[in-house]
Amino acid sequence: MIAGFLLLALTLQVRGILDGEYLFCRTERGYHLSLEEYRQDTCARCYHYLPPFAFHDPESRLKYDESTGLLVEPLSNTSFEADPENATHPAYGTFQSDLFARKWIACCRAALDCCKDMLTHHYDDFRGNNGSALQCPRTWDGWQCWPDTPAGETAEGLCREHVYFMSDPPPCPKYASKQCLENGTWYVNEWNSEWTNYSSCSRIQGMRRLQYFHIITYAVSMLFLIPSLFIFVVYK
Ligand SMILES: *[C@@H]1O[C@H](CO)[C@@H](O)[C@H](O)[C@H]1NC(C)=O
Ligand SMILES: *[C@@H]1O[C@H](CO)[C@@H](O)[C@H](O)[C@H]1NC(C)=O
Ligand SMILES: *[C@@H]1O[C@H](CO)[C@@H](O)[C@H](O)[C@H]1NC(C)=O
Ligand SMILES: *[C@@H]1O[C@H](CO)[C@@H](O)[C@H](O)[C@H]1NC(C)=O
Ligand SMILES: *[C@@H]1O[C@H](CO)[C@@H](O)[C@H](O)[C@H]1NC(C)=O
Repeated sequence: MIAGFLLLALTLQVRGILDGEYLFCRTERGYHLSLEEYRQDTCARCYHYLPPFAFHDPESRLKYDESTGLLVEPLSNTSFEADPENATHPAYGTFQSDLFARKWIACCRAALDCCKDMLTHHYDDFRGNNGSALQCPRTWDGWQCWPDTPAGETAEGLCREHVYFMSDPPPCPKYASKQCLENGTWYVNEWNSEWTNYSSCSRIQGMRRLQYFHIITYAVSMLFLIPSLFIFVVYK
């Protein structure tokens, strides 16, 4: 009888572990965290990933403590949960301008939405096509959210506004891409970190095209200017 209960309890426990992925949200380090741990850690990392020019003084910039997922004030060595909803949070004193505070808030909110998505969406089954169900797991990459993706495919996601540090978002939508390898793991870079390609989110390409346009226009107008100068000098 007691053994029966124990067995039942054990079975439920094991099922709980097997179902575990449904209760946790994945981050770019491959950890599955509970909603509360995830919320703090991803938000602290949103702060950590901001570029140096987002802060008015590198000395006072809060440090991210990887082992606790907290932000640490370097001068007083006190730790804080990353919480953008708290208007008196010390992080707000460190930004160069409101713009970066807004980027931080947007990133933390996007992370939270991502976790809620991960918890509520049904798992897609890609087995239909090819007998193999290998897939990369839905995840937060530090900036954006990615769904389950079949092995060997590259997922595309709309570049979110908070990834534009240098400029306003471009008028037409751009897409970041994340490669799911043949063995069902996300592409990792040379530092062994999962990596998303944000290069097409940048406006540099567009700007370069604009520069070429200007150079060509100048060249054409010079071409017409030289004969007219010649005519002017010769026939004046
Ligand atoms: C900061 O505080 C933590 C614990 O609160 C301690 O382990 C650490 O050594 C301290 N660091 C410095 C530089 O004082
Ligand atoms: C807001 O942050 C400050 C400093 O971190 C903390 O002392 C305070 O308790 C926080 N307030 C709330 C409502 O969490
Ligand atoms: C199935 O997999 C094979 C090789 O692994 C590939 O050549 C083929 O295109 C795949 N078919 C579909 C429908 O994905
Ligand atoms: C998946 O493939 C990549 C590249 O081929 C390799 O670096 C990685 O170690 C593989 N991962 C696993 C779990 O096999
Ligand atoms: C990133 O994406 C861009 C544009 O899609 C591409 O040209 C570039 O090769 C990609 N970089 C890597 C390292 O995959």
